[in-house]
Amino acid sequence: MDNGTNANSTARARKIVIAIDGPAGSGKSTLASLLARRYCYTNIETGAMYRALALKAIENGVSVDDGNALAALAGQSNIELVPNSEGNRVLVDGKDVTDLVRSQDITDAASKVSVHPLVREWMVQRQREIGAGGGIVMEGRDIGTKVFPDAEVKIFLDAAPEIRGTRRFLQSPAADAPEASVVAELQARDQRDRTRANSPLVPATDAVLIDSTYLTLDQVLSRAVEIIDARLQANERKHG
Ligand code: DC
Repeated sequence: MDNGTNANSTARARKIVIAIDGPAGSGKSTLASLLARRYCYTNIETGAMYRALALKAIENGVSVDDGNALAALAGQSNIELVPNSEGNRVLVDGKDVTDLVRSQDITDAASKVSVHPLVREWMVQRQREIGAGGGIVMEGRDIGTKVFPDAEVKIFLDAAPEIRGTRRFLQSPAADAPEASVVAELQARDQRDRTRANSPLVPATDAVLIDSTYLTLDQVLSRAVEIIDARLQANERKHG
């Protein structure tokens, strides 16, 4: 893969929004952070915002099933993502909760919190503000369908469920859950994310699908770079 001139010339081009959607364990976060570094873009992990609200709800005794109360809580909260080379630090009301929001309980609660339309409305609004200037790699479940339906690059990253489950398990060897339970939890979460009434996880009609089941990370990155470079070069030809 070319790592030099192409990246330099494309980095100078007008900064666009790159939307990356897909299910848990498909490799979105890793891909998004590599792409952000390559193009000198900002990487935004929108799932971390749902996780942050879930954590705050639990700490404040708000039920993850109460959409109105959750949306009110979101309105009183300052949820910030601070991009760095390893991903995003997550701050809730100024407190760094990056590690806390990765626990299994919060992972499950975030998926439950994310089904509520009022919560989603608040999140989408914030995410649009964050990405308004372009130069963003935003990853989540509804970025290409809802948050930025006009994004110039949309990638839907997928992989077979058992592969995603195993990858997730290997990412968190410190956790004492057996592999089978990590896979089962991931599939339950998938099912909820794909079947919720509001903004379910589906590929945008104009998204490019990358199935990473049999691909290495480098192959996935190469494919994504091809897609993005093609768009940036077309923009340069069009706009000069
Ligand atoms: O990407 P993640 O695993 O950190 O996301 C946590 C949960 O948040 C996920 O189960 C679904 C939800 N989510 C969402 O509904 N929409 C997004 N754009 C991002 C995440």
